Amino acid sequence: MLAGLLLGAVTCAAAGARDCDCGYTLNYSLPETEQILFTTHLATNFSTTLHGWITQTYNVTPAAARGPFGKSAQTSNIQQNPSGLDLFVRSKTLTSDAGALIPISELVTAQTEILYGSFRVWMQAPAVNGTCAAFFFYHDDSQEIDLEILSRKQPLRNNAAADGNKGFAELVNQSPDAVASGYNAVNTTGYITRELTFNPTQGWHEYRIDWLPDRVDIFADGAWLQTFGDYVPDRPGALHLIHWSNGDAGWSGGPPAEDAVMGVGWVEAFFNSTGEGLGRCRGKEGACWIPPKGFSGLPGSEATGTMGDSGAGGGTASASGHPLATGAAACLQRGVWVLGLSLVSIACHVSGRLV
Ligand SMILES: *[C@@H]1O[C@H](CO)[C@@H](O)[C@H](O)[C@H]1NC(C)=O
Ligand SMILES: *[C@@H]1O[C@H](CO)[C@@H](O)[C@H](O)[C@H]1NC(C)=O
Ligand SMILES: *[C@@H]1O[C@H](CO)[C@@H](O)[C@H](O)[C@H]1NC(C)=O
Ligand SMILES: *[C@@H]1O[C@H](CO)[C@@H](O)[C@H](O)[C@H]1NC(C)=O
Ligand SMILES: *[C@@H]1O[C@H](CO)[C@@H](O)[C@H](O)[C@H]1NC(C)=O
Repeated sequence: MLAGLLLGAVTCAAAGARDCDCGYTLNYSLPETEQILFTTHLATNFSTTLHGWITQTYNVTPAAARGPFGKSAQTSNIQQNPSGLDLFVRSKTLTSDAGALIPISELVTAQTEILYGSFRVWMQAPAVNGTCAAFFFYHDDSQEIDLEILSRKQPLRNNAAADGNKGFAELVNQSPDAVASGYNAVNTTGYITRELTFNPTQGWHEYRIDWLPDRVDIFADGAWLQTFGDYVPDRPGALHLIHWSNGDAGWSGGPPAEDAVMGVGWVEAFFNSTGEGLGRCRGKEGACWIPPKGFSGLPGSEATGTMGDSGAGGGTASASGHPLATGAAACLQRGVWVLGLSLVSIACHVSGRLV
């Protein structure tokens, strides 16, 4: 019996390695070579699915939005097409008792217990003045990491000030200092504007945020942009994709004179979540390598289906980035169950393929 259990465990481990059940390892070279392990993988190709993401519907008054305009997030401002999602900010404002609202779009991961990770988005920034396109991690207003593209700063038509074909990204690591200055990180050490080597409104580009226990690193098209080492968030949260405007001339600008669109092709996130380990896996052995850039194609949680299938609810909780529930843990459970039937190695090996 004991021999059977050991054999089962070994067979599961071998099957697990093939399925990345022992996690995902990132080769890290800042400042020195280091290998970082994450347990979970959420890959969403938005041209076919909203898997793991939930479209948002809410209204925010101008006062709460801290701008001359409020915001109205609607699923109808998100359209799926062959290259991914179009996230709209509409030019036509809505009226409400509290004041005019700008129609915007936002999606949030169903997984809200993300605690450290490497997050990548394939995006085309809006080419219409007056909006902010952002990819960010959020726990609360003092634990938040933002990558924001302000269309008013990009080399758009009619912008004489724009330098050639290069654009800019606003990188923000929100902190208690930012909250204390009225939710404005502008004069904190957690805010910097970085020049990009490309125009983010032209073509598609990859932006990456690596959030580790002692640092945050941000990249564009694989090139390092910034490291934040102070006030690194240490509480779990969710990832957000948002295209918004509140008319604030100092940030988003707008409202846009015409409908503005932010394109999102895919998001891939390798991360840990609270309360989740790797069971029997020891160290980084048997983990899959995370490529430095590009859609990995690694086994994980990608599902197929259309926007209509996932509807307003987006991904379901059970399919929201918990591949391990159907990976290592399930393999172990099967191993124990099969032991009782004395079919350990064969059944476990076969079921490993059926995950
Ligand atoms: C996303 O899915 C579309 C449609 O199947 C496919 O053409 C595209 O290559 C996929 N993108 C990635 C990054 O895999
Ligand atoms: C956007 O509009 C603002 C306000 O009119 C202007 O200052 C800024 O230069 C414009 N930016 C672009 C990229 O056209
Ligand atoms: C940031 O600092 C500058 C220069 O001291 C000041 O003019 C500006 O009002 C400050 N902004 C905020 C939001 O505190
Ligand atoms: C993620 O979780 C694994 C398993 O518990 C752990 O070994 C690894 O160090 C964690 N990674 C980070 C960046 O904290
Ligand atoms: C990461 O580094 C290891 C050890 O140097 C190497 O074997 C592996 O191929 C690297 N993986 C990637 C994706 O760069």
